[in-house]
Amino acid sequence: SAELIHKLEQTIENIPDFPIPGIQFKDICPIFLQPKLYEEVIADLAEFSRGKIDVVCGIESRGYLFGIAIAVALDVPFVLIRKAGKLPPPFISEKYDLEYGSAEIEMKTGHLKEGQRVLIHDDLLATGGTTEAAAKLVAKQGAIPTQFSFLIDLKDLKGEERLSKFGAEVYSILNY
Ligand code: PRP
Ligand code: MG
Repeated sequence: SAELIHKLEQTIENIPDFPIPGIQFKDICPIFLQPKLYEEVIADLAEFSRGKIDVVCGIESRGYLFGIAIAVALDVPFVLIRKAGKLPPPFISEKYDLEYGSAEIEMKTGHLKEGQRVLIHDDLLATGGTTEAAAKLVAKQGAIPTQFSFLIDLKDLKGEERLSKFGAEVYSILNY
C-alpha cells in the first residue's frame, strides 16, 4: 500500500558510495527496530504469494530475514539457499558473476519436490545475478520458480529483465 511504501521510505537508510563509489547502499536494518512495521512488510509480501506457491526459498543472508516469516505466514515449507562452502553434501551449486569477480550459491538436495511452485525471496534485486542463480538451482531440482519477491528493486540495474526468462511473477514493495 502507499502507506507502507511511505513508512519504508522513511525507515530505510541510504548510504552513498558504499561499498564502492557510485553505489547507493540501502540499509534495511532499521525496519527491525519497529516490530509492527516488520509485521506489515511480512503481511504485504505474504499476500502477494498466498495460494500461489508451495514453498519459499530464501537467499542468504538478508533473504532469510523476511523469507522464513513469509513461509510461516503462508504455512508452507522454507528452504535455504546458502552461500558456498557452508553445506554438507549432498548439495548442488551455481556460480554467477558479480560486478567484480564471481560468487556461488548452494542448495541442499532432497528438500524441494518435483513440480512444486516456488517463491524465491530476497531483500533486494540489483543486477539479478543472485536471484537468477537461485532460480537455476530450483529448476535443476524439477521445481518451478513461480514467483520472485523483494523489498527493494533497484530498477536501473534491470534485474527484472534478467529474470524474465523464467516467466515468473515479480513483486517488490519499493522501486528505486
Ligand atoms: C545483496 C542483496 C541481494 C544481492 C542482490 O546481498 O541482499 O542478495 O546482493 O544483488 P544482485 O541482484 O546484483 O545479485 P549480498 O551479497 O550483499 O549479501 P547479504 O545478503 O549476505 O548481506
Ligand atoms: Mg543478499
